[in-house]
Amino acid sequence: MLREDLGGGLELALAVPQHAEALFGLIDENREHLRRWLPFVDATQSVEYARSFLKDQLCQLAEGRALALTLFHQGRAAGMLSLNRIDSVNRAASIGYWLDKGLTGRGLMTRAVGRLIDLAFASFPVDRVEIHCAPGNEPSCAIPERLGFTREAMLRQALRAHEYVDDRVIWGLLREEWPRH
Ligand SMILES: CC(C)(COP(=O)(O)OP(=O)(O)OC[C@H]1O[C@@H](n2cnc3c(N)ncnc32)[C@H](O)[C@@H]1OP(=O)(O)O)[C@@H](O)C(=O)NCCC(=O)NCCS
Repeated sequence: MLREDLGGGLELALAVPQHAEALFGLIDENREHLRRWLPFVDATQSVEYARSFLKDQLCQLAEGRALALTLFHQGRAAGMLSLNRIDSVNRAASIGYWLDKGLTGRGLMTRAVGRLIDLAFASFPVDRVEIHCAPGNEPSCAIPERLGFTREAMLRQALRAHEYVDDRVIWGLLREEWPRH
């Protein structure tokens, strides 16, 4: 899957170093929106940094450890989502995401995460996917809830982003619970 049309102007593509300029520009425009919840934002200060992150993601894909995707909306980069910490022994992985603030509130990320779950169960040694989010990050927690995940656990002070420390809610979804599996 290099690039896939999800309909309605939404596309998912394998995240490659060629996306570095567009993704860095998007992060730069969205710093305030993203930094409260995502620890990489302050460290991302150049296109070169973004490019080396994307190269590393391709290495992780080659090693079967991660899959990073770029989300496009009407041909323009709109955000990212990824399958992380793929653990073939325990057949589990976790999903992360971020979206341009101007494109929130339309269901785009919920659709994209749904497609990533299809890919996880179809193409990776995974029978369980998790989403971790802070309880105060309501738009993020709403995504697993909307997709039928179970709220399984809450770890205290287990998420850090810049100066913030939050509890970590773990949402889980099993292969047999996914209607499209
Ligand atoms: C987390 C984040 C991606 C969620 O964005 P979002 O726009 O709320 O999520 P979606 O694109 O799935 O859209 C859902 C919204 O669209 C609405 N919507 C409209 N049509 C919809 C549809 N067909 N299906 C689902 N939702 C729809 C939903 O009601 C919801 O809006 P609401 O919150 O006002 O009820 C975004 O807030 C973000 O990037 N935050 C910063 C980074 C971050 O926190 N990442 C996660 C770290 S754990």
